[in-house]
Amino acid sequence: MINIAIDGYSACGKSTLAKAIASELDYRFIDTGAMYRAVTLYFIRQGVSLGVADEVAKSLGEIDIDFANVEGRNHTFLNGEDVEDEIRGMAVGQMVSPVAAISAVRRYIVPQQKKMGLKGGVVMDGRDIGTVVFPNAELKIFVTADMDIRVKRRLSELLEQGKQVTEAEVRANLLERDHIDSTRADSPLKQAEDAILLDNSKLSFQEFIDRGIALAKEKLNG
Ligand code: CDP
Repeated sequence: MINIAIDGYSACGKSTLAKAIASELDYRFIDTGAMYRAVTLYFIRQGVSLGVADEVAKSLGEIDIDFANVEGRNHTFLNGEDVEDEIRGMAVGQMVSPVAAISAVRRYIVPQQKKMGLKGGVVMDGRDIGTVVFPNAELKIFVTADMDIRVKRRLSELLEQGKQVTEAEVRANLLERDHIDSTRADSPLKQAEDAILLDNSKLSFQEFIDRGIALAKEKLNG
């Protein structure tokens, strides 16, 4: 069993592709962004000041993040509570990139992710999977799409979830997160040298998924 690393910008279809490949291969899908979102939710609830190292360290020591299948969908649990809905909201979305830029946060989360991949059979999506978490992943895909498409996609996802949000807010959030994620000092978002670029701007949903699955199968069949 191999490990598959899928990285890329916000709302470009990484998780959808990762889930589809995992389901096709009967591998485990891990949404690493959900882990940073869960930490962010805990920090918001506790009123942690991001610049105060002691507060950050204390809170990290209190957090346990887990995943479980709920009615066929992968849900994120924070200290035993199902927070899947809450971590997708704009309050978390607006704080998650500054939180994920804190080295202490990454030092807490990355070893857990590395452990999940020890036996292989994992499809993980995020920002630093091919560069830091699984630098030896057998297959690395870097996903991208035009900003307008990403905005539309994320807006309809959030509206479907019943969240109150405007197109302008979504666009501003994606632009800000792209900027913070790709310019931070610790593990910035970048395409690994050996990653395959998959731009889905001009692909239909099915073409995009089919292409990703074909890459995985090619890799498995040598
Ligand atoms: O779903 P979306 O593409 O909007 O983002 P996400 O995958 O849920 O990730 C949320 C945020 O977590 C990102 O904007 C990054 O700041 C951070 N993140 C990270 O730093 N490293 C990862 N491996 C995954 C996410």
